[in-house]
Amino acid sequence: MNGTVELIIDGKPITLPTVVGTEGEVGIDIATLRSKTGAITLDPAYGNTGACKSAITFIDGEKGVLQYRGYDIAELAQKSTFIETAYLLIYGELPTSAQLNEFSGLLTANEMLHEGMRHHFEGFPPTAHPMAILSSMINAASSYHPNLIHAREEHFPFHAARLISQVRTIAAFSYRKAQGLPSIYPKTTLKYTANFLHMMFSHPGEDCEPKPEVVKALDLIFLLHADHEQNCSTSTVRMVASSRANLFASASAGVCALWGPLHGGANQAVLEMLEEIHKEGDDGTKFLTAVKNKTGNRKLMGFGHRVYKNFDPRAVIIKEQCDKVLAQLHVSDPLLDIAKKLEEIALHDEYFVSRRLYPNVDFYSGIIMRAIGIPMDMFTVLFAIGRMPGWIANFKEVMDDPESRISRPRQIYTGATLRTYKPLAERD
Ligand code: CMC
Repeated sequence: MNGTVELIIDGKPITLPTVVGTEGEVGIDIATLRSKTGAITLDPAYGNTGACKSAITFIDGEKGVLQYRGYDIAELAQKSTFIETAYLLIYGELPTSAQLNEFSGLLTANEMLHEGMRHHFEGFPPTAHPMAILSSMINAASSYHPNLIHAREEHFPFHAARLISQVRTIAAFSYRKAQGLPSIYPKTTLKYTANFLHMMFSHPGEDCEPKPEVVKALDLIFLLHADHEQNCSTSTVRMVASSRANLFASASAGVCALWGPLHGGANQAVLEMLEEIHKEGDDGTKFLTAVKNKTGNRKLMGFGHRVYKNFDPRAVIIKEQCDKVLAQLHVSDPLLDIAKKLEEIALHDEYFVSRRLYPNVDFYSGIIMRAIGIPMDMFTVLFAIGRMPGWIANFKEVMDDPESRISRPRQIYTGATLRTYKPLAERD
């Protein structure tokens, strides 16, 4: 690429500049296309559209590469923690020990919910899905911090820490509420992930002491989910932020987008699928035949990705972790055997191979969460807790960009052309 491309539209040439990213990917800058030609691009589901420039996360889907701020995901998974990685994503650099202490201190200082929020939990029926509670409660939390609405830049670190910390408290409270159990308050002495397990599983007067391997596995799950460039929920967060809505409103919208089974909801859908296969006494073969024949609109949940066309590096790490955790906890899960069988068949089957469908992060994460006692409808909530730093980093990038404008896609109209209104009496 020489820095420009030439298009011919209606016989007239137009020159457009190209933009090259730091890892060499090339975009055609079409910002002047409509004003120069009257034409727009049409790319439903945005498979070919770059919506922004971003310095947060890099993915090379062909090579199975994922980097947060230039650090390879496998290296972070091995050496870092979720909270350190959260700092890296939001502020761009790994923290010094003083910065990490300050960040952790802010998380601890902001972990309690306003007491008034307890009444909101009471309003939900016991059947409420925790993702519905999570998105509502994140938005509700903004009403207890009025300075959030017109937040000034210097307040950002407080709001960011409040959101990361409180999303965990809200998640645990929503689980306790669904179980009809009393809420357990966070403990200032515990670190982020251990504190979450404490709030989930302790009882008044009887603290749960999670095993270190359980804390480590969950921390890794959070870290692996912490960001994933311009996916459905992150794009939603950026879209809402572009209207200058506040951080909590933007994150709440992200939770709603994440909920769907094609996105974050896939971790719950994978377990439901495995349970169904198990119940039917199938070893996966019958199920895969239905998927390939497209009967019943079935998909192999936890497989496929819009960007990864080779392998999902998160899935590789998570599969390894899954084997390790189950062995450490002495859990033998027939669903793990079914998952392995499905993977083995699919990786050699023409249908999946030709479409370049591989296991994604959600294929094995549910099995780990199940092994450590997390109920199925909380799986996507845990994804949301993990993704929060990524959403916050993307929100910050939108707000810090002096060239940021409100997001407003165009469309190709396909409806009726101009017609005149007929009074009701003339329509029968
Ligand atoms: N099982 C069976 N067939 C599939 C699957 C699957 N999991 N995924 C894609 N295909 C087929 C699809 O039917 C289509 O076939 P055909 O060419 O015959 O019409 C072809 O592969 C291309 O698929 P697509 O729907 O155009 O792919 P997409 O990029 O629009 O969708 C996806 C990506 C992840 C939504 C999709 O692969 C899927 O639905 N997977 C299952 C749900 C899932 O695991 N989602 C979690 C994604 S990773 C976590 C996250 O980031 O959210």
